[in-house]
Amino acid sequence: MPRPVIIDCDPGIDDCVALMVALASRNELGVEAICTVAGNVNVATCTRNVLGLLALLGRVDVPVYSGCERPMSVNPVFADHIHGENGLGSVCFPAAQTSAATEDAVDYLIRRLADSGQPPATLVIVGPSTNLATALQKAPDITAGIEQIVLMGGARREGGNITPSAEFNIYADPHAAQTVFHGGRPLTVIGLDATLQLRCSPDRMAALRAIGNAASKAAADMMEHVNAIYGEIYGTAGAAMHDPCTIAWLLAPDLFHARPVRIEVETASALTRGHTAVDYHHTDDRPANANWVDGLESDKVFALLLERIARL
Ligand code: BDR
Ligand code: CA
Repeated sequence: MPRPVIIDCDPGIDDCVALMVALASRNELGVEAICTVAGNVNVATCTRNVLGLLALLGRVDVPVYSGCERPMSVNPVFADHIHGENGLGSVCFPAAQTSAATEDAVDYLIRRLADSGQPPATLVIVGPSTNLATALQKAPDITAGIEQIVLMGGARREGGNITPSAEFNIYADPHAAQTVFHGGRPLTVIGLDATLQLRCSPDRMAALRAIGNAASKAAADMMEHVNAIYGEIYGTAGAAMHDPCTIAWLLAPDLFHARPVRIEVETASALTRGHTAVDYHHTDDRPANANWVDGLESDKVFALLLERIARL
């Protein structure tokens, strides 16, 4: 039986690739719903992008719930300098064939996770954690409906990508991340320490494009947009495939290296807002609250992504 999965995202280029890989993995992952949240671009644009992607993939059976328009406490920040004004680089998806649900993402999460008649769901969070944190604040008992959370965010060794000490998803809503990290359910966090090991090098881009289906063409066109920006900003050859790491982790955890740790999120300091304090050395008696992924087998993970996209 495929495990029930809800994906909470802010597409966003690498979010779209994560969605493609998840939707291509029907034997393992039953994608029940896709929620959107303000992050890389505003939430209306994120929702439009998911609906367009589902039209491209012919998967209009998957319901889409539009979520929080702004973070819990801080002012919104966006990443359109990386993902482009439409969140997809220069790429245009087909027109949506369906609409988002009238119920919003927070109400959906509360209703779904509180439903004891359904199996607990795996939540994949690849944008700011605002939707789930808001749901947990309104209805703390819904944790019983969460099997596990797999979240892309944070950094230890790599510092940050939106400030010197913070990764974008955590910086964008640090209070939400702190709430989710203290939610008390099994949590795997895949931060920049791991995702920056999964680069879109020229040979990998060629292999992606060579698949030759509509999904691979869209993914390659979008990643080329980010590759150009990474080249300009960071001087590196090949952007990182951050968000697809969460799906690859669910499909093949043996390809990753992880350790149990205590993580706290900085919510007060302006200088280090969104910093993830990842305690490798058990500096106090508090128990671990996360499984922290700090490495991956890059060639094998990328090959897995290609193999799944080829199924679309
Ligand atoms: C994360 O930030 C976003 O721009 C990406 O989609 C990814 O989720 C990487 O820091
Ligand atoms: Ca994202």
